[in-house]
Amino acid sequence: MDAQVHFQVSSPAGCETDTSKNPSSATRVPIGSALSDAIAQAGLPLASACGSDGICGRCGVTILVGGSTLAAETDEEVRIKSRNRIDPKLRLACRTLVTADLEITASYW
Ligand code: FES
Repeated sequence: MDAQVHFQVSSPAGCETDTSKNPSSATRVPIGSALSDAIAQAGLPLASACGSDGICGRCGVTILVGGSTLAAETDEEVRIKSRNRIDPKLRLACRTLVTADLEITASYW
């Protein structure tokens, strides 16, 4: 069974969007996939300094739609965000599993 992940991507006013990378605005992934894998599959960048090892906290994304379908944060995710001073409202893409359709964004898209 799959879920659809939609991505809200915006470019700052006056900036050209680099269409050569052709990122997708949505992708389908199997239920249970890491959100970071869905982002990679869509061709979007993922901020990371740890290679998705759950250390850096830089992969935080905002869940716009579907957040209530996600599993609660683990103690590990809370600890990673606290240690790296990451906004507690963000979810770490490398530690969040897709369980249903979602819409997400990142501050750097
Ligand atoms: S990529 Fe480093 S914590 Fe997610």
